[in-house]
Amino acid sequence: MHTQTRSVLDLLSADRRAEVQERVETVLSELTLAEKVGQLNQLNADFATGTAVGDMDVEQGVLDGEIGSVLNAADLDEARRLQTLAVEESDHGVPLLLALDVIHGYRTIFPIPLGEAASWSPEMAELSARVAATEAAASGVHWTFAPSVDVGRDPRWGRVMEAAGEDPYLSSEISMARVRGFQGDDLAADDSILACAKHYVGYGASEAGREYNTVDISETNLREVHLPPFEACLEAGVGSVMNAFNLYERVPASSNEELVDVILRGELGFEDVVVSDWNSFGELVEHGVASDLREVARACLEAGSDVDMVSGAYATELVELVEDGVVDESLVDEAVRRVLTVKGALGLFEDPYRYFDADRQSRRVLTDEHREAARDVARESLVLLKNEGAVLPLDGDEDVALVGGLADSATDMLGAWRAEGEPDDVTTLKASLTDRLETLTYVEGCDPDGTVSDEQLEAAVETVESADVAVVAVGERYDQSGEAASRAHIDLPGDQRALLEALVETGTPVAAVLFNGRPLAIDWETEHVPALLEAWFPGVEAGPAISDVLLGAHNPSGRLPMTFPVTEGQIPVYYNHLKTGRPAEDAGVDLTTPPADHGEKYVSRYLDIPNEPLYAFGHGESYTDFAYTDVSLGAAAITAAEPLSVDVTLENVGDRAGTEVVQVYLSDRVGSRARPVRELVRFENVDLDAGESRTVSFELTAADLAFWTADEEYAAEPGEFEVQVGHAADEIAVVETFELVE
Ligand code: NOJ
Repeated sequence: MHTQTRSVLDLLSADRRAEVQERVETVLSELTLAEKVGQLNQLNADFATGTAVGDMDVEQGVLDGEIGSVLNAADLDEARRLQTLAVEESDHGVPLLLALDVIHGYRTIFPIPLGEAASWSPEMAELSARVAATEAAASGVHWTFAPSVDVGRDPRWGRVMEAAGEDPYLSSEISMARVRGFQGDDLAADDSILACAKHYVGYGASEAGREYNTVDISETNLREVHLPPFEACLEAGVGSVMNAFNLYERVPASSNEELVDVILRGELGFEDVVVSDWNSFGELVEHGVASDLREVARACLEAGSDVDMVSGAYATELVELVEDGVVDESLVDEAVRRVLTVKGALGLFEDPYRYFDADRQSRRVLTDEHREAARDVARESLVLLKNEGAVLPLDGDEDVALVGGLADSATDMLGAWRAEGEPDDVTTLKASLTDRLETLTYVEGCDPDGTVSDEQLEAAVETVESADVAVVAVGERYDQSGEAASRAHIDLPGDQRALLEALVETGTPVAAVLFNGRPLAIDWETEHVPALLEAWFPGVEAGPAISDVLLGAHNPSGRLPMTFPVTEGQIPVYYNHLKTGRPAEDAGVDLTTPPADHGEKYVSRYLDIPNEPLYAFGHGESYTDFAYTDVSLGAAAITAAEPLSVDVTLENVGDRAGTEVVQVYLSDRVGSRARPVRELVRFENVDLDAGESRTVSFELTAADLAFWTADEEYAAEPGEFEVQVGHAADEIAVVETFELVE
C-alpha cells in the first residue's frame, strides 16, 4: 500500500512552485467561462480509435480558445503550428498540451510492456520510459497516456500486453519505475514528459476477457488488486490519471464519484489532472446512466474528472450548465486550475515551444545508445519456458534451420501501440541470425498469420530434416493483442501447431520462439517441443536480443508476470487466488482414466483438466541452476512497528553465470477476510557466477502484511504468517514462519 502521493507541484522547487501557482491564478482570472471550459476540452488531431461526438474543427477551436489539449498531433510541424495558433493567435495565449500514446517507446520501440515486466526489473522499465520520454519530448509530445497499470488476470483480454501482468506488487514496482522514467527528475526538463496512470480503475477485470465488457468487482478486490499500482504511481508523482471505460458498482468510472472524488482525490490525495478515455464521457449514454450530453457533463465534472477526451460533452454543455445554476462554476475552476498547473509544471508558460525542436529530434531519436537500451531491455524480457535436453543455447557451428514467417516480419516485432515506430528500424530474427551464424537456412514454413500451405510445410520439413537443430518462430500477429483485440481461443493461430508437429516429427531438435502479447494456451507445444523461448513482441532490437539468448551470449532471466493456462477453460487462473473451502491438494487429472477414477470428487477442481496452470507466475528457466539453501528471519515475533529482516541464501549450482529472480511471498494464515494463498512482497535480480553463493537480504514492514480488513481499513492483523521464498509462485524452496503480535 502506497500513501505518499506527490503532486506535480511537489516535484518542483519552492520558487518554481510559487511561480507556477501565481501564473495559474492569473491566467484563470483572465479567462471567460467559455475559455475555461475550453481548457477541459481535448480533441483529436488525426487518428481515431472510436466514435467521437464532437465535430469541432481543431484549428478553429484552438484559435477560439475552445481546446486545451490535442491528442495524436504526432507530426512535429503540425504540433508546432497548433501551438503557434494557441500561443500567438488566440486571445489569451494559453499553450496547448499535446498528447500521444507513447506506450513502449516513441521511435525506438522497446518490448511491449507485458514483456518488459517479464524482466522483473524496475531499472529496465525506467530506462525504456526514459528513452521514450527523451525522444517524445524532442518531437512535440508533452503528455503520454502511459503507463497502463491495469492488473490483468484474463489473457483473453488483449490489453494485458499493455501493462505489467497479474500481480499488484510487481505491477506497482514496474509502474512506478515507468512514471519515474517518463517524468524524470524535472518535469520541465527537455527530456521529460507528463505520464498518465490508466485506466482508473478495474478495466483489467472485463468479464470473460472481452474488451469494453462489464466489470463487476467487490470493493475488497478493488482495493487489494486493482488500486495498488495506481497508488504506486501517485507516490511516484504521476501528473495525470485516465478514467477507465468500465463500470464500478454499475457506475461508469468517468462519472463515478466514489472512485474519482472520494477515493482518488479524497483518500489518496491526488491533486492533478484526471482525463477521460476516448469518448468515455459520451459512453455514459450507451451504458444507460445518462440520457444526453448535458447529464453526462454534469455527472463527470461532479465526479471530479477534468478533461474530456473527444466526447464534446464539456465543450457543448458546461457553459449552459453553469449559467443555468445547475453546476457550480467553482468546479469548473478547480478542473481548469489542475490543467493549468500541469502546463505550468511542464514549463509551457515560459517556453511553449521547448518540445518542438527539429534539431534535438534529429540528435535524440533512434540513436545508437537508444537502440542499445532497447536491446538490453529486450534481452531481459525473454523467458525460457522450457529447455529439455539443453537444446539451447546453440553452439553456433551447427546447421541451423530457421522457420516461420514471424522470424522475418519486422512489423510484428513492434507490437501494438508502436507510436512512431517504423518496421524499417527493426532488425528481425532472420537478419540477426543470418549475420551471426555460418550455416543458417531460412524457410518460411508459415505466413506471419499462421497460415501454412502444403508447399510451405513440405519445404520446411525437408529443410529441418537435414539440419542439426531448428529454430521455429511462431505466435500471434502484433494486432491480435492490444486495444479491441480480445481472443476467445488463445492457442497458436492458424496451422502453426500442425507445422510444429511436422517439424518435431523429423526428429531434429526444435526450439520454438514465441511472439505474442498475452499468455498463450500451449499445452501441446509444452509436451512436444523440447525448447520454448517466450519473446513477446521485443521491439526494434528483436533479432539481436533473441539471438543473444539463442547463442548463449546472454543467459535468460525473464520470469512470467502472468500465468499461462493449460487451456482457456481455466481462465481466470492466477497465483494469488483466495483459499477455497474445499481445496484440492493435487488436482492433477490423468485424462487416460475415467472421471470416476480422478480422485476426491467434492473438492474444488475440474473433472477434465488439472487446476494447476501450464506455467505459473514467476516461472522462467536459465542456462544454469540455482539452489536456495536457507531462509532466516530476524525475529520469530514482531509488532506492527518493527520491521522484519528476511535473509535468503542462494547458490548458482550450474556451470555458467546467471541471474536468479529471488521471489519472496507472504501467506497470512488467518484473517478477518479470506486471504490469498500467497502474495508477492519482494523480489530481487541476483547475478551469480557459477558456483557462487550469496545471502540476499530483504526487509518487510507492517504495510506488507496489511490488507482490506472486515473493518474496512488497510491493516495488518495479528497472527501467524509464512514467508515463502523461491524460484516461482509454484516453486517455493524455503519457508519460515513468524507471528505479528499486538
Ligand atoms: C483509448 C485507449 O483505451 C486509451 O488507452 C488511449 O490512451 C486512448 N484511446 C487515446 O488513444
